[in-house]
Amino acid sequence: MKAVRLDLAPLDGITKVVFRRVWHRHFGGADRMFIPFFSPTDQHILTKRDQRELDPSANAGLNLVPQVMTRRADDFLWAAELVADMGYREVNLNLGCPSGTVTAKGKGSGFLSDPDALDAFFETVFSRVKLPVSVKTRLGGTDVAEFRRLLEIYDRYPIACLTIHPRVRTEKYRGAVHLDVFAGALEKSRNPVCYNGDIRTVAEAQALLDRFPNLEAVMIGRGAVADPALFRKLRGGPAAARTELADFLADLYGSYQNFYGQPATAAQRMKEVWFYLIHLFDGGEKLDKQMRRSRGPAAYEDIQARMLSELPLRESSQGDLV
Ligand SMILES: Cc1cc2nc3c(=O)[nH]c(=O)nc-3n(C[C@H](O)[C@H](O)[C@H](O)COP(=O)(O)O)c2cc1C
Repeated sequence: MKAVRLDLAPLDGITKVVFRRVWHRHFGGADRMFIPFFSPTDQHILTKRDQRELDPSANAGLNLVPQVMTRRADDFLWAAELVADMGYREVNLNLGCPSGTVTAKGKGSGFLSDPDALDAFFETVFSRVKLPVSVKTRLGGTDVAEFRRLLEIYDRYPIACLTIHPRVRTEKYRGAVHLDVFAGALEKSRNPVCYNGDIRTVAEAQALLDRFPNLEAVMIGRGAVADPALFRKLRGGPAAARTELADFLADLYGSYQNFYGQPATAAQRMKEVWFYLIHLFDGGEKLDKQMRRSRGPAAYEDIQARMLSELPLRESSQGDLV
């Protein structure tokens, strides 16, 4: 495949510090990984949880981009300085999150419905920020036509990279991505563009790059959890072997147990990974249902053992990732 930068998408609750380290150790292949967003507090104090997530010593050896979610320029500037002091070399603004609790506050993709305020936000941020700023956006709130105005705004600022998830807020992560609108945006954007959305296989990534050879980068999230070897395969490497997956999962489970000190929480995290990983196996519907309904670590361990020993492994993950 043509050389293009490969970014691991931020998946809040999944691609956090523990997962990133273990995944990188066993499979990896991403040029950069995005840390799921943190929201600056009014008092400009980093919470313990965010501190743990951003701590450079816990993330040593990984090329990471922290992501901030806010609609206040002062808060963003505070966060940018904080992560710059930690040694990060870029900061990303979340304009994509479709969750109701976030958008109700006008943050995430909620900010896209207030283009004047967004313009004023960028005006302040770019006049003062010292770190390169990248943006992760959707096409709008309810209508893809909103992107025209949004792109005019983005084009006025030196955005390090504009990652576009070509859906609107109300579409969440479902339905077909608007590739035609993305094509127009890529053509017009004065800033480098990264594509994000629904890439699950090498063939899908290849088709994307064939259609859009001018992409700066491709960002993949759920597809890399559904097939942990996807980035490696994109670089011409082998698919995940069953023993490799078993080692990866054992390491991940053990690392979650150490991190949380609670087997029940560790098992819950593993079930969230299996929500996507099940797509790498054939005929897993029954065990998948059992896994989702299971309670406690022993049940999770038992069902995972059965999945790994009984289900045929596919070459690539398939199916709907929502
Ligand atoms: C569980 C979950 C958590 C997510 N957390 C974040 C986040 O913290 N920041 C962000 O910009 N996007 C977040 N996203 C969106 C993803 O980064 C990505 O844009 C989306 O999953 C589409 O790409 P994919 O099809 O390659 O997964 C999240 C998506 C999911 C499903």
